[in-house]
Amino acid sequence: MKNYSIALLPGDGIGSEVSAEAVKVVEAAGKCHGFKIEWVEYPFGAAHYNKTGEILPASALDEMGKCDAMLLGAVGDPSVKPGVLERGILLTLRFHFDQYINLRPARSFESVPCPVSLKDGVTIDSVVVRENTEDFYMGIGAVSEDGSFNKPFEAKRGLYNLLGNLEADFGDRFPAALQIGALTRPGIERVTRYAFDLAKKRGENKVTLASKANAVPFLYGFLDDETKRIAKEYPNIELKIQNVDAMCYQLARTPAAYGVILCPNLFGDIVSDLLSALTGGLGLGAGGNIGDKLSMFEPVHGSAPDIAGTGKANPIAAILCAAMMLDHIGESAGAKAVEAAVSSYLAGDASEKPIELGGNANAQTVGDSVARYIS
Ligand code: NAD
Ligand code: IPM
Ligand code: MN
Repeated sequence: MKNYSIALLPGDGIGSEVSAEAVKVVEAAGKCHGFKIEWVEYPFGAAHYNKTGEILPASALDEMGKCDAMLLGAVGDPSVKPGVLERGILLTLRFHFDQYINLRPARSFESVPCPVSLKDGVTIDSVVVRENTEDFYMGIGAVSEDGSFNKPFEAKRGLYNLLGNLEADFGDRFPAALQIGALTRPGIERVTRYAFDLAKKRGENKVTLASKANAVPFLYGFLDDETKRIAKEYPNIELKIQNVDAMCYQLARTPAAYGVILCPNLFGDIVSDLLSALTGGLGLGAGGNIGDKLSMFEPVHGSAPDIAGTGKANPIAAILCAAMMLDHIGESAGAKAVEAAVSSYLAGDASEKPIELGGNANAQTVGDSVARYIS
């Protein structure tokens, strides 16, 4: 019997509802496939912050680092200013553990209709490889009441510690905001190699890069050039560079035409929501934040305050995150069992499907049903 220690951060809104179902299904898989999980649960999120003022203490980061992996529901709540919890918890975790890959597979299920018409038998099987530490997520910026800026900044990453000063003046006196992005050769190199290696593993001969060098030439012109340079290491895989606007258009028209999609951080965020919609809903989109230290698995979706507490949350994304997590820690049979259970469940009686997919099953019922399919 193998034992694992998994950090569990349910978070806000539907985060706790969907992660409870993921835990349920992992427990069922453990019983069947001979492993045991010790869940180390953390209370961080809006309720904890509103009560204590604490966001994510350094001591928790140290403790989490000792776990085999982490499962996160979602963070963010209308009672807290946007960014406080999202940057303070989620992005801090990604940066602290240098989780430089955000891997977001998007697969269609035979029994779940795609909102755009796919030719008979055509399926979506693509995966977003999103750079997860740079771009416009550096957190470097300021808002100024009088249009002048003079503020030191620091951005700590696994690869470097960026220090500088944000100095600018619009001349006239009006409120203004500035925020800058950054991309580096080592940052682009590691995610690009990951994407090309993944394409190779999937037996594909193309990687599509979401870019926008025509409008944002310094950042994305550099991205194109650096990506082209690395692509030469893979003579059998073609690099296709596409402007992200055109990519969104083509994704909605011919989603099945895409395999590995390589994205800088911000475009990857947007493209992965679009792909989730194309496979049937945000409640199906799983993802992993992968690095060489602690990796963290969380759905593409957020805390969905509009449906929190109603039972409408679809926990399949969180359950598929748990499958990715099991695969990551080496329990590949358990991971396959969870994936197979989800597919069998979704192929079953339509009225028992999640509410998001037009059925009647609330989050708990979905979790119970998927757990029953585990074998
Ligand atoms: P969201 O993903 O929470 O919700 C978008 C829409 O999709 C909503 O209508 C919601 O009801 C629906 N939806 C999402 N997940 C669903 C599920 N599992 N089942 C059924 N329907 C689902 O995006 P938002 O509304 O922009 O964000 C809400 C909060 O979540 C914000 O505070 C945001 O910052 C945060 N957020 C957190 C994460 C994360 O923790 N990983 C990701 C995205 C957004
Ligand atoms: C996601 C989320 C986060 C992101 C937010 C909450 C900071 O949208 O994980 O997709 O932009 O990465
Ligand atoms: Mn997002």
